[in-house]
Amino acid sequence: MKTCDLLLTNGLVFDGTGLARRRVNVAVRSGLICAVGDTSGFSARQTIDLKGLAVAPGFIDVHTHDDRLLLADPSMSPKVSQGATTVITGNCGISLAPLGSSPAVPPLNLVADGPLQRFESFASYFAALEGQPAAVNMGALLGHTTLRVKTMQALDRPANDAEISSMQELVREALEAGVLGVSTGIYYAPAQAATADEIRAVFEPLRGTQALIASHLRNEGDQVLEAMTEAMGIADDLGVRQVLSHHKVLGRANFGRSRETLALLDVARASGDVCLDCYPYTAASTVLRKDAVEQASRTLIAWSKTFPEASGHYIDDLMAERGVDLDTMIASLQPAGAIYFSMDEGDVERILAYPETMVGSDGLPHDTFPHPRLWGAFPRVLGYYTRERNLFSLETAVHKMTGLPAARFGLRGRGLIEVGCAADLVIFDPDTIADGATFADPMRPATGIHQVYVNGVLTWADGAHTGARAGQVIRRQSASGHSGDKS
Ligand code: ZN
Ligand code: CU
Repeated sequence: MKTCDLLLTNGLVFDGTGLARRRVNVAVRSGLICAVGDTSGFSARQTIDLKGLAVAPGFIDVHTHDDRLLLADPSMSPKVSQGATTVITGNCGISLAPLGSSPAVPPLNLVADGPLQRFESFASYFAALEGQPAAVNMGALLGHTTLRVKTMQALDRPANDAEISSMQELVREALEAGVLGVSTGIYYAPAQAATADEIRAVFEPLRGTQALIASHLRNEGDQVLEAMTEAMGIADDLGVRQVLSHHKVLGRANFGRSRETLALLDVARASGDVCLDCYPYTAASTVLRKDAVEQASRTLIAWSKTFPEASGHYIDDLMAERGVDLDTMIASLQPAGAIYFSMDEGDVERILAYPETMVGSDGLPHDTFPHPRLWGAFPRVLGYYTRERNLFSLETAVHKMTGLPAARFGLRGRGLIEVGCAADLVIFDPDTIADGATFADPMRPATGIHQVYVNGVLTWADGAHTGARAGQVIRRQSASGHSGDKS
């Protein structure tokens, strides 16, 4: 008789590959899946009859800004409550490491705040996370904006040769420590002056590695195609895989243009390795910017350092109340963050349904009144877009959250229900799963998530956190010791 720790019987298994659901048993031993299918030869310490509920690999949130949350609130409740068991940090150019004591200029203030939890290197950041594990696994990206702020005297120009070589040194160090790749955010002020040549030079150490580049485009509005061409050219030159971050088209004038962006991707994919992530909402969220307010039909304040009570209020209401114009209002709120209603539902659905699109929440965990994507992105795809809108099958939806991101980010042994894979598992009810978070009530947990296991440890059960902190740091598989990664 073989033994296992946990036996899940009578579940509907969505294995993450996108293949049809199967009614088979799943057995777990020492944090790993040890059997899928016939488990009649097993004796289990604990057996749970799932009575037809769905079992899937834990969801992988490929687009997060959870760098500091993992340490500040290791429960990671916004993610675990949705069934997410792995987060990818450091997106949009802004990674917490290796910022060190450099100033958290916006948008770095979305992840770094005050003198606490600062790291000069990824090695020290990973060591801190392993010393105080969080409830979910994490893999990290190194941000280009972080490198600029750390190494450059002035940010309003391209980097010079000396600055580029300092940045390359930090890239090599991060790759050696095990980051999965890098990210850029040249839409944002501290990196706007960076040219494609600068980015290519800074990330030259990626050449020949399996590390990827995640790109927040320079422009997601009128110049979205030009911005895609610029970003894809950089990845193509370096010969690395690319993720176009939170793909979208912004502004009423551009509604419907995802037809053009996806057609451009089809062409690029014929020769290059490029994929997407997307969050399932028609509103964006980032720091407060006048151009973003002007592009949106409405703007909701997510946080403000100088006027905290503004959180959760629409900016046009605040302006009317105070009798001030937009410039004055923005100045009185800064530093601040906002939620911008600036997308078309048709575009969101078209992008989500694209075969190479993964789900990423892009949640901003330190906001006072956050975009509901922080707590709701994954259940919203499974409930609203899969069950109600029928955008794709449940098998496809799960694949976009599990097997696909694990393959694209090189997370070996994750994202699938297969013998030998980590027992990151979510048990949910496909008939009731739904996002609870809304724009009016953004921190309400999802419904329909029954249990969440991280590395075989029960972490969320029937609407409550168990207190478990079984998350691991996921390093790039080829990191350290492989000469191909050092040049
Ligand atoms: Zn971004
Ligand atoms: Cu982001």
